[in-house]
Amino acid sequence: MSVPTWMTVIEITRPGAPDVLRAAQRPVPEPAAHEALIRVAAAGVNRPDLMQRQGHYPPPPGASDIPGLEVAGEVVRVGAAVKEPALGSRVCALVAGGGYAEYVAAPAVQCLPVPGTLSLEEAAVLPETVFTVYYNVFQRSGLRPGEWLLVHGGSSGIGVTAIVLARACGARVIVTAGSAEKCAACRALGADVAIDYKHEDFVAATLAATEGRGADVILDMVGGDYVERDIAAAAVQGRIAVIATQRGREAKVDLRELMRKRLMLGGSTLRPQSLESKGRLAAALRKEIWPLIEAKSLRLPIHAAFPLIEAARAHELMESGAHIGKIVLRV
Ligand SMILES: NC(=O)c1ccc[n+]([C@@H]2O[C@H](COP(=O)([O-])OP(=O)(O)OC[C@H]3O[C@@H](n4cnc5c(N)ncnc54)[C@H](OP(=O)(O)O)[C@@H]3O)[C@@H](O)[C@H]2O)c1
Repeated sequence: MSVPTWMTVIEITRPGAPDVLRAAQRPVPEPAAHEALIRVAAAGVNRPDLMQRQGHYPPPPGASDIPGLEVAGEVVRVGAAVKEPALGSRVCALVAGGGYAEYVAAPAVQCLPVPGTLSLEEAAVLPETVFTVYYNVFQRSGLRPGEWLLVHGGSSGIGVTAIVLARACGARVIVTAGSAEKCAACRALGADVAIDYKHEDFVAATLAATEGRGADVILDMVGGDYVERDIAAAAVQGRIAVIATQRGREAKVDLRELMRKRLMLGGSTLRPQSLESKGRLAAALRKEIWPLIEAKSLRLPIHAAFPLIEAARAHELMESGAHIGKIVLRV
């Protein structure tokens, strides 16, 4: 397969506003023994990319400085130790950076086949949020059919992923979102209850929706003072997973309440996890979630698509908060 020597990428020229993103030429990466080189057709945009651009989320050691955590495309080269994916196959992949580019070298264990029902653009927006939601909501918090999941930021990339996956697994879903339009979009995606958090108290609304029981699992990307309120909104034996701190990194926790309700309060980040850990996660997703995506033709809503070289516009849109669902770059 012919692969050029140089490729177009989007660089972060210095920390700052979206206009620090610039197109540049870089050598096409050589895949290491355990990597597959992907000719990128589409790359997902996620809020951590914005944080990296602002200088608040440096890439982990060894990762590319080019932004972009998820891609889909065709495998055009494989390292000596790679058995799968095969040359020429269509994959989507979780990467620790480097997605905003014409080519990216991805660990083979983090490549998953493009589900037959999905386009490459639809597949490109799966890995970052599906890995995160599956890990936090299903693996660590053990959400079961019939249980109630409360997700803050229901219209975010993470939020829409949580709605789609939890509903497909038979759980009931409550979301918070910041406008009537976003609440309506979440309901259309399958959320049972959508709370406009700017006008309603989510603790009272969650308790009302669950007849006083509370939420069994809470996925929290807000943090700060939300954690205390999550504890109030949780059911006995509830599990709370914090994945971001948009309202602050410190929280007040009433330990007696934690004990009385027998709660689990935890948190995680995906990007710095080891290759082994992400590989295990990918294998579990392939076994448990990929068949569901295929059988139920699941897809995440894509709010907007931009050409790669207009990555700055994609960042402006995400920064405005006007999007509902995912944003994708066409390469
Ligand atoms: N830990 C991990 O492994 C991991 C992995 C991926 C992403 N993340 C984090 O998850 C978050 C979502 O990422 P994304 O790519 O899906 O970004 P996104 O689409 O831009 O979503 C950000 C969301 O935050 C919501 N939000 C902000 N303040 C809120 C509040 N007070 N109450 C309820 N919602 C609030 C916004 O909702 P409204 O517009 O309705 O206010 C918006 O939907 C980011 O903070 C990201 O850093 C963590």
